[in-house]
Amino acid sequence: MSDRTIEALLREERTFPPPASFQRSAVMGDKQIYDTAARDLEGFWARAAEELHWFKKWDKVLDWKLPYAKWFVGGQTNISYNCIDRHVAGGRRTKAAIIWEGEPGDQRVLTYGDLRREVSKFANVLKQLGVRRGDRVAIYLPMIPELPIAMLACARIGAAHNVVFGGFSAEALRDRINDAQAKVLITADGGWRRGNIVPLKRNVDEALTGTPTIENVVVVKRVGEAAPIHIKEGRDHWWHRLMAEASPVCEAVPLDSEEMLYLLYTSGTTGKPKGIIHTTGGYMVGTYQTMKWIFDLAPDDVFWCTADIGWVTGHSYIVYGPLANGATTVMYEGTADYPDKDRNWAIVEKYGVSIIYTAPTAIRTFMKWGTEFPAKRDLSSLRLLGTVGEPINPEAWIWYHQYIGGGRCPVVDTWWQTETGMILITPLPALTTLKPGSATHPFPGVGAEIFNEQGQPVKANEGGYLVLTRPWPAMLRGIYRDPDRYVKQYWSRFPGVYFTGDGAKRDADGYFWLLGRVDDVINVSGHRIGTYEVESALVDNPAVAEAAVIGVTHDIKGQAIAAFVTLKEGQKPGPQMVEMLKEHVVKKIGALARPEQILFAGELPKTRSGKIMRRLLRDVAEGRVLGDTTTLADPAVVETLKARYEEEAG
Ligand code: WTA
Repeated sequence: MSDRTIEALLREERTFPPPASFQRSAVMGDKQIYDTAARDLEGFWARAAEELHWFKKWDKVLDWKLPYAKWFVGGQTNISYNCIDRHVAGGRRTKAAIIWEGEPGDQRVLTYGDLRREVSKFANVLKQLGVRRGDRVAIYLPMIPELPIAMLACARIGAAHNVVFGGFSAEALRDRINDAQAKVLITADGGWRRGNIVPLKRNVDEALTGTPTIENVVVVKRVGEAAPIHIKEGRDHWWHRLMAEASPVCEAVPLDSEEMLYLLYTSGTTGKPKGIIHTTGGYMVGTYQTMKWIFDLAPDDVFWCTADIGWVTGHSYIVYGPLANGATTVMYEGTADYPDKDRNWAIVEKYGVSIIYTAPTAIRTFMKWGTEFPAKRDLSSLRLLGTVGEPINPEAWIWYHQYIGGGRCPVVDTWWQTETGMILITPLPALTTLKPGSATHPFPGVGAEIFNEQGQPVKANEGGYLVLTRPWPAMLRGIYRDPDRYVKQYWSRFPGVYFTGDGAKRDADGYFWLLGRVDDVINVSGHRIGTYEVESALVDNPAVAEAAVIGVTHDIKGQAIAAFVTLKEGQKPGPQMVEMLKEHVVKKIGALARPEQILFAGELPKTRSGKIMRRLLRDVAEGRVLGDTTTLADPAVVETLKARYEEEAG
């Protein structure tokens, strides 16, 4: 985090106690809950689990053999049953489960009854295509109802889904399919984005030239005539044709608590993205309980999480958390600025959204656009606001509170990760006095600490590494097909605790302040990208000899990608080369990884043992005085770079 941001954090001193309306009637209003949960962790989570349906109750709540946790051991349940059938049986058959808004303005409302029919049909389709319990199914879809339907259908029959964000390139999709060894792929002919078509099926055709495990592809017709596609006989099947013949009855299979629910790939510090494993019982209980308490869910709430389901936020808080609670969840296919910059607020008005959950980068974008866009719409249905994905700067927090929440809605700043599965550090809206910019306190039962380099807890207001000291039900169970990396990545930095990769401090009142990643992961608009991945994409280009990638502070995106590149002999630097290399990264990973800046360097600053010193590159890119250069093999290298950079930046 930049000095500028830290300064701003320190300037904002207002605090926001819970509004009286929340104190009167919140789902969780008991201050003692933190102590209760800390005293009896297993009892605390067992009480949450008891609110859900189990085919067979667990024998043991927690089996903790560091670093391996099993939750609700011996229990049998099904998350698709809990997200659908439990509500149909409980009088919510005609309640809206999913409200979908398509980019061109089309809409679809699926009640819990509809959802049971559609999910059961698609579960039968999957079975007919040879998908069995324990198989992996890849999903590469836009934000359309078929996406949650496909996920819930997998869960219904015990197949693990692997959703790949529609913005990833063909090559990124291929890597994920191959690592997951997926048998079936579900996709669409295309998706809509700002009036243009995202050519999903074309990417799929390219990806599938190298995916031996895929036997069948199911294609949703979303854009139709607007973008005709090639259907490969015997492999590709239209979704609507298969669904027309499928039986609407498919009972949910009782699954062991620890059976794999899904894989989701995320960036780490080294190597290719890793497949984070989430399992059935603990993930279900964790997302259910956090959803209910943090968002203070009432039966008539309309909840809208603006994330894409391709990320963990969408898995946990568009699909599983809301549906496990029998809530109404909104999903939107397009972007916030199409056809105009008031689209999000038009959606809030149209459906009476009462809780909105979005990212700081989006809020900063809305601030830049100006208050006239939210002012055009009736936002009086809102009662609670949430944010996730990166530290929120207090200015953005205050703006959100004022111009979206009308000064009356608490803001829950929620910290968590793909690996944690559920929110772990967060306010509870009826209990927590808010400080703008602070995610406040660990959720009841969650153990969080801040360690120094030596693994000792730091003093108040001292920065350090955020670690988690107790297991939680939705925690990852490992990295798919790479057990060693699980131990190395999360459990080796400090003995006995989970290392988050985030920096944090705690103030004198015990509030947690997240300070950004401390490892080689960049957070661009709330999306995680490993510097290593972008470097690999760059050196994959024949013109490039070497590349070093860093994250630099960016006003809207939080961080942006900057790349320092040395070219091979005879290659010409210049604007054309910059464009070509940016496109190359997009092709290898996806548009989200496009570098903001590329700077050519004759040489990269290295230590005598040959390690690139990214710290110094950050100093160069952010225009700071260079830090300690004494360990460099040749200090002149970085001086030259700095001079060049300043010249180019004007
Ligand atoms: C960052 C997204 C500060 C953090 C759910 C974490 C946050 C990474 C917050 C995980 C927050 C997420 N305040 N930082 N409220 N929420 N982060 O896996 O660096 O895509 O490690 O999961 O996002 O990103 P991921």
